[in-house]
Amino acid sequence: MQNKLLIFIGPLFFLLGCAVNTVQSNNETDTKVKQLLSEMTLEEKIGQMTQIDFSVIAAELGSENPVDQRKLDDAVLKYHIGSILNAPQTPHNQAQSVAVWRNVLQSIQAVAAQSRLKIPVIYGIDAIHGATYIKNAVLFPQALNMAATFNTELSFKEGEITARELRVAGLQWNFSPVMDLGRQPLWPRLWETYGEDVHLATVMGMSYIKGHQGDDFSAPTKALTCLKHYVGYSFPINGKDRTPAWIGERMLREYFLPPFEAAIKAGSPTIMVNSAEVDGIPGHANYQYLTTILRDELGFTGFTVSDWEDIKRLYTRDKLAASEKEAVKIAVMAGIDMSMVPFDYSFYHLLLELVNTGELPLARIDEAVTRILGVKYRAGLFNAPSALLSEAEHFATGQATEINRQAARESIVLAKNEQQSLPLKKNANVLVAGPNAKLLSVMNGGWTLTWQGDNESLYPKDKLTLFKAIQKKATGKVTYLENNVVDKQAALDATKNVDVIVLCLGEKPYTETVGNIGSLNLEAAQVKLADAMLATGKPVILIMTGGRPRIITEQAELASAVILGFLPGMEGGAAIADILYGDYNPNGKLPISYPRESNDIVLYDHKPIESYESNVYHPLYAFGHGLSYTSFQTSALKLASDTINWGDTVELSVDVKNTGLISGKETVLVYLNDVAASVTRPSRQLKAFKKVELAAGQTQTLHFSLKPEDLSFIGVDLKRVIEPGEFKIRVGNETVSFTLNKP
Ligand code: GLC
Repeated sequence: MQNKLLIFIGPLFFLLGCAVNTVQSNNETDTKVKQLLSEMTLEEKIGQMTQIDFSVIAAELGSENPVDQRKLDDAVLKYHIGSILNAPQTPHNQAQSVAVWRNVLQSIQAVAAQSRLKIPVIYGIDAIHGATYIKNAVLFPQALNMAATFNTELSFKEGEITARELRVAGLQWNFSPVMDLGRQPLWPRLWETYGEDVHLATVMGMSYIKGHQGDDFSAPTKALTCLKHYVGYSFPINGKDRTPAWIGERMLREYFLPPFEAAIKAGSPTIMVNSAEVDGIPGHANYQYLTTILRDELGFTGFTVSDWEDIKRLYTRDKLAASEKEAVKIAVMAGIDMSMVPFDYSFYHLLLELVNTGELPLARIDEAVTRILGVKYRAGLFNAPSALLSEAEHFATGQATEINRQAARESIVLAKNEQQSLPLKKNANVLVAGPNAKLLSVMNGGWTLTWQGDNESLYPKDKLTLFKAIQKKATGKVTYLENNVVDKQAALDATKNVDVIVLCLGEKPYTETVGNIGSLNLEAAQVKLADAMLATGKPVILIMTGGRPRIITEQAELASAVILGFLPGMEGGAAIADILYGDYNPNGKLPISYPRESNDIVLYDHKPIESYESNVYHPLYAFGHGLSYTSFQTSALKLASDTINWGDTVELSVDVKNTGLISGKETVLVYLNDVAASVTRPSRQLKAFKKVELAAGQTQTLHFSLKPEDLSFIGVDLKRVIEPGEFKIRVGNETVSFTLNKP
């Protein structure tokens, strides 16, 4: 290690001269909050910290009105609850029409208006790829796919459209975006993340927030976001949801905190907490994370909300608390402001008891309620209700649907295309096979119309499955292999008059622990079907859909082409058909490393030791991989200077040329390597990217600037540092070096 002068810089965000509070505080709001707080009883305060599931106020199933008025009156007038979440039951937490939502929300606020202090209820909903619980909403590609677009403008538009469609229904608080990093491919919520890279997740999440909230999230077309799941939830060591993560503080600060740090600066006013545990401390009991770091270091001023029943679970599951009452005390004192209880008023009663017996200070209650009321005021909830956005004008518009289709197109990764097997000729005779060919749910995943997204009967009839999309576009004969043909002769018979086989494999929808698996290997039946199809000798186009990579190495080696669709949303079938037949030139790039074998989980930003001697980064498809029907070449990578003075930006440029015969989009990725440092540095880290559209033969020069903090890392003393010395920058197959001078 070079003997380097260590320069300690304060926590990054102060360097950025921003220290922007989560929610811009302003004196007028603070005064109103203080005044209201002074008028509140202890019961009313604790009510504000209580969030219940819709089922607590639900009428009998099949009732005309999904709300039971007496239960609603109890919730708001007797228990003073501050928030409700989830969709009405028909029969359980599933998508409702705009009209039903409007009635439900208006009835809730009407009762709030009868309460002594008329404090509005804030209603939370998971709208993680569009307004998932509103019928016929525009449902986008899931976050992993949005990351594969490397297109921050599309992420901004997704946020914008999602917020607008929520507001049409009267909803205003979205439990999204997920700022967790997808660094464990087994994890059943990988697809809810923007992938394995810090920079990509950060910029995609910030763009989404800016589109969703604008500069003022009380505006009629904007809505509040909620960062989740703070922090370290996405990295369970065994890959199963809600199991321990072992993340040291240096890794936490290097990888898992920065996306939240940036999203807080982008203005998200609420944060949902990690349901699992890190280093033996449950997210809901972690004072260091929830108060010392989140408040004192990151300056977050909004409110935190627990995840599902996770305060109770400190007692019932984690065995951290000796009783439910102790669990409430631990969680509230650690920094949880609002409890997603969600099925009863236990939190309300226990917290009231804790304060009345002096076991929990009133000051902590006042602090939490101040944060909650502050967000409600800034959300405009106390203002006279404005007319709701018109459904005809702002909901599921043609323009929004077209943006969704474009997002789906740009999210698809063409991983292999041997001898230009793709695009297909429209008059080709196609046999479509595989369990994922005739379903919409396999392209949408969890949080789609229902929690698990697996109720195919609820999916809109006008959206295209892969099979229907191919049928619609092709002029040749398109048939479907009705059963899992594995017999060699049967396969040969079935494919006799066929030019090409489109094989649709992958996963069914899932989320959370329901999606836990023991291996990334493909289901045996799918392997058998694939082998039978590949054995026919016909060209096979393998299309994978699902929330995480499954091991397809052998099949991919034999297939003529491989398309990685993951979860491209409601326009996914149409978008994949656009690509199959060349009506769109693919440009998606992998936001994760696609494993070659189930236990070969090495990520692109691996340490030098992981690519030393027989250790190799050898995924089936690397982070950033993605083909086009044209070809691109970068060249003339150069630095403005190969000596950088301390505190200066690193200016670089590179040419990118479309060396093929058709126009296309290309993302140029800029990687940095700090050659030697006091802490081992990744072989490379993405620090910038730009996506450009080029005509055949066109060249464009791209300019990039790396700021000093782009060179920083978490040092031995767990503080962010920059160390002078040699750095390398890699773009495409070119590398340049520069030296950062001492201050
Ligand atoms: C779930 C999820 C969380 C979601 C919440 C409310 O348990 O972990 O992502 O926002 O409950 O549905």
